[in-house]
Amino acid sequence: MKIVVIGAQWGDEGKGKIVDYLALEAQFIIRFAGGANAGHTIVIDDEQYALHLIPSGVLYQDKIAILGAGMVIDPEALFRELKMLNDRGIDTTGRVLISDRAHIVLPRYINIDKERDAARKKPIGTTGRGIGITYSMKSDRDGIRFADLEWKEKMDELESGDRDFLEPYLEKLRPMIIDLAAYLGHRKNSHILFEGAQGTLLDLDLGTYPYVSSGMSSAAGAAIGGCVGPRALDKVLGVFKAYSTRVGNGPFPSEFNLDSEDELCSFIRETGREYGVTTGRPRRCGYLDLVALRYSCQTNSIDSLVMTHLDVYDTLSEFKACIAYRIDGKMVETFPASIEALNSAEPVYRSFPGWKSPLKNAISYADFPVEAMEYIEFIERFCETPIDIVSVGYKRKETIIRKSPWVK
Ligand code: GDP
Ligand code: IMO
Ligand code: MG
Repeated sequence: MKIVVIGAQWGDEGKGKIVDYLALEAQFIIRFAGGANAGHTIVIDDEQYALHLIPSGVLYQDKIAILGAGMVIDPEALFRELKMLNDRGIDTTGRVLISDRAHIVLPRYINIDKERDAARKKPIGTTGRGIGITYSMKSDRDGIRFADLEWKEKMDELESGDRDFLEPYLEKLRPMIIDLAAYLGHRKNSHILFEGAQGTLLDLDLGTYPYVSSGMSSAAGAAIGGCVGPRALDKVLGVFKAYSTRVGNGPFPSEFNLDSEDELCSFIRETGREYGVTTGRPRRCGYLDLVALRYSCQTNSIDSLVMTHLDVYDTLSEFKACIAYRIDGKMVETFPASIEALNSAEPVYRSFPGWKSPLKNAISYADFPVEAMEYIEFIERFCETPIDIVSVGYKRKETIIRKSPWVK
């Protein structure tokens, strides 16, 4: 079975936790897009791991973790991450592989990324990891792929600074590089998880352009970045938070109003630990935007939703979710492409009563308070998509499975 896990909002939905949880039953975990802009957190017992490039299943000693063709990979960041894992007792020998079609991030791309974003009249607020520059070199057909490291003519053409940067990594990289299409062609009946990075609203095509990242973070990217055809993918899981967050600039219709909701915003940020894993920036917070979530369900063919961070609402007596926008005096129930429209959109809210008890103690869905069930079931109806997994904490065991995605 082949299952895709994507972010259904603006990233940081808890993909790392969910992929780690589901990876128990997978043999291969393939990260299909993005680069070290991602920060995926996994907590096992009292140990916390922050992964940027390596797929989240890597913490199981028997899983193969593959960096897919849609990724842009900084070798320095990759080996730093491998060292971190090895120093913490995770043996990665022979089980971290790289698609030969993935692109390489060079140090000068990182510098250009930082300079260019700082010079923008309205900066995007990139993570400064060279992501956009590497993807634009790729589409300009001037990029360097891992396959090209063996292409003497191409290597000879490189600027000496780039060659000097790559040289120390070549020996270590060689055994990790694979032809992913051929590799998977021999493993057709395997259980594979395709791990997304960022989220639909940061996808280059589907997101809030130009306030997006530059890769394919939506489900379609799993096929291209995983070197399989779209019909090889069995299921798409969309991970979303019970509320919304965003790092960096760009429209966010349901963002808390800092004049009237500053206290609520700080409460959500502190309770949900809403600080960027990669840059440490405080995340912007707001109520759940169901118009945007429904758009994600449609554009990714999401079969099943995974709701995370529901525990963050444990102590609230009331909260809201955005069910439409008012734009220029008109009610809008779809997600507009126009940044002007999104910036001027006034959220139309529906209120929900809180449950005022800790969800962490629930063992099954039946243990949830009725108010939590009402919120979950309202979202299911609104998005016409089931919520099969609910996460009520960052630990592995704080996960309620209503229906396992591994069951056909
Ligand atoms: P990702 O980029 O989608 O993998 O998400 P991040 O790791 O950037 O951010 C998610 C944060 O929320 C991490 O600190 C996780 O440990 C934490 N987390 C994940 N699921 C839950 C949950 O259900 N409840 C709470 N309170 N925290 C969670
Ligand atoms: P994960 O996988 C949240 C945001 C940046 C910026 C925009 C462009 O952890 O969910 P980039 O450096 O990619 O050119 O920045 O995208 N961004 C993310 N926000 N989670 C992420 O990844 C992100 N990756 C990029 O903050 O607004
Ligand atoms: Mg993250």
